[in-house]
Amino acid sequence: MSAAAKDVQHYLRPGTLQLGALPPLSLYVHLPWCLRKCPYCDFNSHEVAREANGAATVPEQRYLDALVADLESALPLVWGRPVHSIFIGGGTPSLFSPQSIDRLLGDIRARLKLEADCEITLEANPGTFEKDRFRAFRSAGVTRLSVGVQSFNDAHLKALGRVHDSAQAVAAVEEAALAFDTFNLDLMYALPGQSMEQLEEDMTQALALAPPHLSVYHLTIEPNTYFAKFPPRVPDDDTAYAMLDRITEMTAGAGMERYEVSAYARRGHRCWHNLNYWQFGDYLGIGAGAHGKLSFPHRIIRQVRYREPRLYMDNALAGQAVAQEEEVSRADLPFEFMLNALRLREGFTLAQFSERTGLALTAIQGPLAEAERRGLIERDLARVRPTERGFDFLSDLQQLFLAAA
Ligand SMILES: C[S@@+](CC[C@H](N)C(=O)[O-])C[C@H]1O[C@@H](n2cnc3c(N)ncnc32)[C@H](O)[C@@H]1O
Ligand code: SF4
Repeated sequence: MSAAAKDVQHYLRPGTLQLGALPPLSLYVHLPWCLRKCPYCDFNSHEVAREANGAATVPEQRYLDALVADLESALPLVWGRPVHSIFIGGGTPSLFSPQSIDRLLGDIRARLKLEADCEITLEANPGTFEKDRFRAFRSAGVTRLSVGVQSFNDAHLKALGRVHDSAQAVAAVEEAALAFDTFNLDLMYALPGQSMEQLEEDMTQALALAPPHLSVYHLTIEPNTYFAKFPPRVPDDDTAYAMLDRITEMTAGAGMERYEVSAYARRGHRCWHNLNYWQFGDYLGIGAGAHGKLSFPHRIIRQVRYREPRLYMDNALAGQAVAQEEEVSRADLPFEFMLNALRLREGFTLAQFSERTGLALTAIQGPLAEAERRGLIERDLARVRPTERGFDFLSDLQQLFLAAA
């Protein structure tokens, strides 16, 4: 019996929270390899090893074995709960062969009950695109592709250290559109040396490909990346704000709604998986460095798997993939909830707050009143929404809920 199975009573013992019902459950699967490490990236991604002839080698089968062992050890914690979405992220999951993704999804289906309309997203890099590969992912059961484009400008792609050029990005997105009923395109803005005109060109090209979903992220210089050591010249804050306004305007003109800080979608194409994060739903995270959040009637726990791929594989195969686990304290819950829920244009319902955190509304009455006074939220008896101003000063708004309970 795994440690988790022996331990499951431990998670069910009495505690200070009262969750009336458990939230929907998603599954995140991390595949940690990339062809090359991008200089801005702080995700748990590792450059592939290469053979003498330069061919990339990924230990796909051993990693899949480790994922199955990881999942099996975690099953007692999610017993009987249906899974609403799966997100295969990275790294560059499209580096794995379609046969491996087929095996992965088969292994998951054999162990978890998936909802009939379960959304299954896979992240793909245009640099790993070959004819028919995307269709083979579709045949393996993937329902949604997320293509990491970042920019359509060759000079910017080069500055970002990307392994693909603009023509490859267009070809990959066109193929995604043919092979999938729904897909996402990732872009970044405020790139090194980017002008407003160049941003508009990127947006025009992206929208011409009619993506059902678009994620546009402000390029962040993350600590411990190459860019943190050798910072490129990026547009100033005022220009970046103006760029964001233009992005929102152009997407709205194309019939897309900004439903979250960085996410734009056509009707019916919101990302279920990310919505579940933002609505403070549950997710089991398997794979190297994966994070998970799981609820029980009287507590909410967070888990992190071993980060380094080899260490992860060794430990997962020995039945111990979890490197760290902690219970979220009552005091931290309001802030953690708001970090997610206030990213949504629609905000959250008061009922959702109590249901998802197991706390009474009194825990947030003070900060809610203060946020309203400062014009950062609007609310009625049932719902709380960030205002335009709240969206612009989101971290100030969220911080009002620090240690509120
Ligand atoms: C884990 S990556 C997955 C996609 C795939 N690995 C790729 O890069 O093509 C998810 C997305 O996060 C965004 N991202 C990564 N690092 C970022 C940073 N430093 N600032 C802003 N966005 C970033 C990129 O748009 C990227 O497509
Ligand atoms: S391809 Fe994606 S995950 Fe990999 S290093 Fe680049 S941004 Fe990070």
